[in-house]
Amino acid sequence: MRRLLLKIFPGMREFSSAEDLRSDSDNGAYNLAVRRAVASYRHFANFKRDKDYNKILEHVSEQDGREYLKILQDRNDGIFNGARKTLLRSDAIGNPRKYDYGTGAPLSPTTLRYLKVASDLKILFGDLSGTRIAEIGCGYGGQALVCDTLFKTREYVIFDLPDVTRLAAKYLESFLLNGCYVPRTLNAATPEPYDLVISNYAFSELPRAVQ
Ligand SMILES: C[S@@+](CC[C@H](N)C(=O)[O-])C[C@H]1O[C@@H](n2cnc3c(N)ncnc32)[C@H](O)[C@@H]1O
Repeated sequence: MRRLLLKIFPGMREFSSAEDLRSDSDNGAYNLAVRRAVASYRHFANFKRDKDYNKILEHVSEQDGREYLKILQDRNDGIFNGARKTLLRSDAIGNPRKYDYGTGAPLSPTTLRYLKVASDLKILFGDLSGTRIAEIGCGYGGQALVCDTLFKTREYVIFDLPDVTRLAAKYLESFLLNGCYVPRTLNAATPEPYDLVISNYAFSELPRAVQ
């Protein structure tokens, strides 16, 4: 019904940026879904299943989750076992779709992807404890939570659209972190040195001028 209304009344859409600076995510419906989750606990409790939200995030398939899990198990680098408690904690928020992968408790394929990325980071950069990381396009902060928990990062600067940083803050405040997070829009930060800057499926979708 909501999507039908957006089709009939395109003026109901909510954008973050001027037209020439919009990324693929800034499609009018995503921002509304994010605002619902920020404004109401009822929506926040289920935001990972919101259909408009799922067009942009939280849409990793059951099969992709299986493949991420297999990579993690083959690598046996301690990431999956170290994250079992994190996985269960993080998946308690936002009601993600979960599947039975034969590991005991059903798991979210999106969380498995964040863990696989953490494993990649460990291979590429080694020990990230005590580091200052920036992530461009943090979504709800799933990667930030995994890095904070597994690596014990010191500071994690999460860049995203204004409403999305509010959702990420609400999400991360649902946990007790080891380090701290700093929510920012790209315009609200001066250039600073970071130990590592990452972007999962976000930098590539930004318009050239914003990149
Ligand atoms: C496909 S999602 C990926 C999210 C997250 N990295 C993940 O892997 O789950 C792209 C992200 O880029 C963000 N984004 C879009 N335009 C942006 C901008 N101008 N500045 C920062 N982030 C932006 C979106 O809000 C969204 O969170």
